Amino acid sequence: MSNSSQPIILVTGGAGYIGSHTVLCLEQAGYRVIVLDNLVYGHQDVVESALEAKLIVGDICDRTLLDQIFQTYPIAAVIHFAAYAYVGESVQNPAKYYRNNVMGTLTLLEAMVAASVKRLVFSSTCATYGVPQQVPIPETHPQAPINPYGQSKLMVEHMLRDFDKAYDFRSVCFRYFNAAGADPEGRLGEDHNPETHLIPLALLTALGQRESLSIFGTDYPTPDGTCVRDYIHVADLASAHVLGLEYLLKGGNSDIFNLGNGDGFSVRQVIDAAEKVTGQTFNVVEIDRRPGDPPALVGSSDRARKILGWQPQYADLITMMQHAWQWHQKRHE
Ligand code: UFG
Repeated sequence: MSNSSQPIILVTGGAGYIGSHTVLCLEQAGYRVIVLDNLVYGHQDVVESALEAKLIVGDICDRTLLDQIFQTYPIAAVIHFAAYAYVGESVQNPAKYYRNNVMGTLTLLEAMVAASVKRLVFSSTCATYGVPQQVPIPETHPQAPINPYGQSKLMVEHMLRDFDKAYDFRSVCFRYFNAAGADPEGRLGEDHNPETHLIPLALLTALGQRESLSIFGTDYPTPDGTCVRDYIHVADLASAHVLGLEYLLKGGNSDIFNLGNGDGFSVRQVIDAAEKVTGQTFNVVEIDRRPGDPPALVGSSDRARKILGWQPQYADLITMMQHAWQWHQKRHE
């Protein structure tokens, strides 16, 4: 950590994919950062090699540890990523999601209120909308999640609304669409274990680490029958978090923003883009739908642009794919 005059920001889940890119963006903006991560899915080596942040290995469910952190460091605000985020797994094992994502967040919020740290940027999701009635989806769209992951994030949004009223607790909730890509300079990238996401799976197939790529469902009510998603570059998500933080530090009221590009790409279109960028043709297998997947999720992010002044830099799917490919090739070496 450098710049001892700058406020300290606590980033939970800062060793994960979106968290680590946000820590990098915070550091570039001059903030001092403490990462709290239990390393169940996060990567210690990433924090130690690519970031300046101090890493505290621990869990958001550990109230004693949280109290200690807030007593030891002058934390100005928290950016909260720590969560389990596998949609399919959440359908099979909802208890894991409610315990960690809901109870863990409640523990964090209680510790924050006790320490009078009342500014939080929260990582929510478009999965809170369920099957949309209209696209692009505005923030005012009804929320009816169709999987426990989305439900767990919606419960936290409700807690934050109530904490605002009861405790003057201000939050910014970002409902992300599909995070993609990697740091354009190749310092960080996407590394889930197990990997379930479409773009990294396509690139791992290109690297010969997988024999084939599955398409989950070809009978959706979409133009080519496969699911449509709105892909958003992880560096653009990261910059939005810094803007959300600054909005709160300047005294902004609690608010909720979608983060997406407003363009939908089908699974087949994503595979075409991966083939184009890698110069390879994949063995593609069409199988049944994956439980919990809505047919199409595309968001309107006009509010984030207007209110936060957010300007995505890498809105093009091919650019996201190139950055992700650069990262996967480097790791493979
Ligand atoms: N898909 C395939 N084959 C695969 C993997 C995925 O066809 O091998 C499809 C999925 O069915 C989905 C699309 O590709 O239609 C994208 O799937 P991802 O797993 O890459 O992403 P999700 O849309 O399921 O999940 C992402 C985030 C979640 C977030 C969700 C909102 O990972 O955190 O978007 O829908 F909640």
